Amino acid sequence: MKIFLDTANLDEIRKGADWGIVDGVTTNPSLIAKEGRPIEEQVARICDIVDGDVSAEVVATEAPMMITEGLKLAKIHKNIVVKLPLTRDGIKACSALSKEGIRINVTLCFQAGQALLAAKAGAYIISPFVGRIDDMGMSGIELIEQIVTIYENYDYPTQVLAASLRTVNHVIETAMIGAHIGTMPFKTLDMLFNHPLTDKGLEQFLKDHAKSLEKS
Ligand code: E4P
Repeated sequence: MKIFLDTANLDEIRKGADWGIVDGVTTNPSLIAKEGRPIEEQVARICDIVDGDVSAEVVATEAPMMITEGLKLAKIHKNIVVKLPLTRDGIKACSALSKEGIRINVTLCFQAGQALLAAKAGAYIISPFVGRIDDMGMSGIELIEQIVTIYENYDYPTQVLAASLRTVNHVIETAMIGAHIGTMPFKTLDMLFNHPLTDKGLEQFLKDHAKSLEKS
């Protein structure tokens, strides 16, 4: 499974990239707003750090403006994937831009029927939001499972990007189902390292090594 960072913060992206395990980055207007710079500038900086897909979201809500904005975003860097919301206009813009060879990430997907529409419109990526569905008392992981099954049934090339991954279990379950990509905040990625037995084991190994040096 590809691991994407869901942040527009350059320090977090640099840290993840230095570990050598970050395949791409997703941003959204809320994440960009936190960084206080125009989207064009911020995503260009992100593309300088990570050599992989970087999603940049349009803020227009009508198809013609979404298309104009999408074309502009796509010109920033070869790795930019244009993010469009799963609305009627978003799907219309997805069909048009995909036909032009622009790679589209259709976002804000909360049920499998929406994912079917995105695949039909030629989306490169579909983004179902696992954490936000769990917040509603439903199962985000079940949604990922449904979408993976539907796409496999018909060989749709659209990649399933499990978004809004907040826990270690979200990541593990997503990978077990076979989602192509998981995007997560830096905090979730960092949590994947943790296990008390790893810390305890290392402490013991180092103690034993130090003892062996004392003896020699
Ligand atoms: C996806 O690309 C979204 O940016 C993101 O995963 C939303 O996550 P949140 O529910 O933690 O805001």
